[in-house]
Amino acid sequence: MSLNKQPRDTYRPQSADLEVGRASAAGMYNVYQGGLGLVWADWDAAQKVMRAGRGEVPIAARENARFAARAAAWAARAYGIEQVLDIGVSLVEGIQVPTVEEAVRGAVPAARVLACDNNPVVIRHAQAWRGSPDSGYEHVFLGDVRAVEQILSHPELTRRFRRDRPVLVALVAVLHFVAEAEDPVGILTRLGEGLPEGSVLVFSHACAPEADPAAAAMAAGYENASSDLTFRTEPAVAAMLQEAGWEVTDPGVTDVQRWAPPGERYRGEPSPSVRVVGAVATRPRVGGRAESRARAARSERRP
Ligand SMILES: C[S@@+](CC[C@H](N)C(=O)[O-])C[C@H]1O[C@@H](n2cnc3c(N)ncnc32)[C@H](O)[C@@H]1O
Repeated sequence: MSLNKQPRDTYRPQSADLEVGRASAAGMYNVYQGGLGLVWADWDAAQKVMRAGRGEVPIAARENARFAARAAAWAARAYGIEQVLDIGVSLVEGIQVPTVEEAVRGAVPAARVLACDNNPVVIRHAQAWRGSPDSGYEHVFLGDVRAVEQILSHPELTRRFRRDRPVLVALVAVLHFVAEAEDPVGILTRLGEGLPEGSVLVFSHACAPEADPAAAAMAAGYENASSDLTFRTEPAVAAMLQEAGWEVTDPGVTDVQRWAPPGERYRGEPSPSVRVVGAVATRPRVGGRAESRARAARSERRP
């Protein structure tokens, strides 16, 4: 298996991330974890966020990455899934983190693992360094979760994934870069509707109480970056998944430091001032109980 290079004619950088001096979500996340980021502005903006987070941002970032790898590996094995899509693949240069692709391929060696990101520089990095035959991505492509249908119908995905087999989607620490006006519930709903039955979601999201001053200060660090950061409350994150028709499995929506597969225990380094919550959720069978509940919740929301 090899990582195919994206053909030149389909590769169109379309974001302002390439602007010199503009921080990106991926670059800042890399700095939180001890990397250098992509540009100086990543380092600069990341310092602001880390100061506002009272030193806990690196802990939360590390634990989030550990959650992604742990939950994806467990879910792939537990649900017997061999098709994995990692949305928001980010950078791993200069840092020691467990990666989704290595963890999944360690748990299910036959898994085909694809990834996408909306940052073209991140795509170039992943294409160059994360495509090893036995533990890497089979292919990475440019894709924006706000246009989730385009990701699911991307030719590189449709020619590799079978429509009649479930897919494990990792959407980890990405949806907090989607503003309310961009309809995060709609994105999660369309993601579920576009996937085969039996598909599974590994999900995480930055979390804070309403009008929390520290969260506002952290979000301010993203003001000049390529994406804004939107904290949501823990109940709001759980409601988003439910409303979109995803059925959250045990132990529910919980801090990434505490998420463990059913019957197991995990206690990571705590970061009580900087919370990221995670969950594993299944796409219910069409017409199933959770789907009817989700439909009811959606129609209640409509004016
Ligand atoms: C905080 S990093 C999380 C990386 C990885 N999923 C993890 O949890 O370790 C967020 C990643 O999502 C990407 N991203 C942000 N908004 C996105 C969007 N609308 N569509 C796809 N990727 C996005 C960023 O470029 C970045 O690589």
